[in-house]
Amino acid sequence: MPNSFRTKVLILLFLLFFILIGSINTLSFYPIFVLFLIVLSKYGTTFFGASWISTPKNKFNKIAKAVMMKPSQRVYDLGCGNGKFLAYVSKRYGVFVRGVELDPFRWLYANLQLKIAGAKGHVILGNFYKTDISNADVVFIYLPQDTVDKIQQKLKTAKKGTLIVSYVSACKKLRLVKSLKNDRIYVYRI
Ligand SMILES: C[S@@+](CC[C@H](N)C(=O)[O-])C[C@H]1O[C@@H](n2cnc3c(N)ncnc32)[C@H](O)[C@@H]1O
Repeated sequence: MPNSFRTKVLILLFLLFFILIGSINTLSFYPIFVLFLIVLSKYGTTFFGASWISTPKNKFNKIAKAVMMKPSQRVYDLGCGNGKFLAYVSKRYGVFVRGVELDPFRWLYANLQLKIAGAKGHVILGNFYKTDISNADVVFIYLPQDTVDKIQQKLKTAKKGTLIVSYVSACKKLRLVKSLKNDRIYVYRI
């Protein structure tokens, strides 16, 4: 996941380049501005925790099975992107879902996904570092390693017994209870 300092500098340079080209040549301003919005939406949140990459669909059920999802559970996705994981688990397992997303376009899109799926729950527009997770039974994260390292303190504020399931990055300070190494799915218990 692109989240290194060098990547952040490159993204910033790209964005400045778009603004510069757009302001020099007014004719090309609108297409450049649209491109700017697309790049901003894909990479802008890199500076707050992670850029947007979706969990592959073929992992959804493996993640759900790893935590033995059941209808009584409240499942959170911190940085839920397009909301497809939450839509899937709510539809298939009947769980209540709560997403948190910083990007307003993806927040809208994710809420639409949940509506279409008839999911129980919605997505909040906000910062996952500031979100209350004390109600969660399961917290799903797909975030780069440096963000996971930072968010572990927050994850510890979940109630005792909450399951944290991380795709790709490991939560080194939490108690590992299950690991599907080939799928890079790690389950922790608070
Ligand atoms: C790697 S994507 C994962 C998307 C989704 N969880 C999935 O598995 O398909 C990370 C998401 O976190 C969002 N994000 C990054 N920093 C955030 C923050 N501080 N608060 C809330 N969302 C954030 C990004 O906009 C992006 O959509």
